[in-house]
Amino acid sequence: MESMKAARIHRYGGKEVVVVEQVDSPKAEPYEVLVRVVAAGVNPVDWKIREGYMQQVLPIRFPYTLGCDLAGIVESTGAGVTRFSAGDRVFGYPSLMRCGAFAEAATILESELAHAPVSMDLEMSAALPVACITAFDGLFTHGSLEAGQRVLILGGSGGVGSVAIQMAVGAGAQVYATASARNQQLITGLGAIAIDYGSQATADVVRDVDLILDCVGVESGTSALPSLKAGGRYVTTVYALPSAEVLAQFGAKSAMYGIQPSGDRLREIAALVDQGKLSMAIDTIYSLDQVSEALAASQAGRTRGKLLIRTSPN
Ligand SMILES: NC(=O)c1ccc[n+]([C@@H]2O[C@H](COP(=O)([O-])OP(=O)(O)OC[C@H]3O[C@@H](n4cnc5c(N)ncnc54)[C@H](OP(=O)(O)O)[C@@H]3O)[C@@H](O)[C@H]2O)c1
Repeated sequence: MESMKAARIHRYGGKEVVVVEQVDSPKAEPYEVLVRVVAAGVNPVDWKIREGYMQQVLPIRFPYTLGCDLAGIVESTGAGVTRFSAGDRVFGYPSLMRCGAFAEAATILESELAHAPVSMDLEMSAALPVACITAFDGLFTHGSLEAGQRVLILGGSGGVGSVAIQMAVGAGAQVYATASARNQQLITGLGAIAIDYGSQATADVVRDVDLILDCVGVESGTSALPSLKAGGRYVTTVYALPSAEVLAQFGAKSAMYGIQPSGDRLREIAALVDQGKLSMAIDTIYSLDQVSEALAASQAGRTRGKLLIRTSPN
């Protein structure tokens, strides 16, 4: 493939700065894999990057191809790549500095890639990497969740929250999760005790949880703190914490974190999917020409599971 379609930005801004254009196809450098992208997952970080909210921590270079969750077929491999060959079905999360998944082809480091789950449609696998790595790190790496403990997941119907519910249930925890009224059935079906944040205070439903995993934001996180047991852990996926005074008032140990690409973690995630322990609800599938619309839908904050961009035929 000499040239390809890609959804790029040449400057920060709103919906209008996303341009779908014909560009040179990338080539696999040493330790890189060139993937013909079948589908790409949409994440809130995509519109946060587009808007320029991340520029202090993520100094990207323009033009920048958006999209950080991909699934596809290996086209070719650079020197030094040992675990992948042309024709392999793969999924991955490239470093945010390069992203590049909203395109017909993308290069990604071998270390950031894994073979896709064999039991899941390849297109659907594009929904997994970021949400699953984030949920795993929040619950276990930073949250130290163990069997028999109680966890409260804020935002249980989104990409990260819906996966976190399944991982926590699978780990033997008792799981509570918040969502609006329309998503109560979704999170109950995943194994959580559902809390309708529109009509219930979390502390009226559950107290003394060992861990709160906040996938929503400081406001809902702060109002959920009365559910935490003294000395419990408050872990957030968003880059903001309640004030130190408020956390101290509830005796909370806190952590916020950013995920790193990890092919090793993706191998474990593929195994969970193939064991029937992990699935992902797909909300809407867009075409590459509709990236702006997909980002607007993500920004609206009502996604059930994941949004996908279909980049080429499966
Ligand atoms: N730290 C990291 O490395 C990292 C990695 C990935 C994601 N993140 C961040 O984590 C957050 C979650 O990501 P995501 O992909 O899961 O987002 P998402 O899929 O866009 O989340 C949408 C969901 O949030 C729910 N929601 C909105 N307001 C809520 C509230 N007040 N209480 C409970 N649920 C609420 C919505 O449910 P209802 O419609 O039912 O309200 C919807 O299902 C984002 O801020 C994202 O940027 C961080």
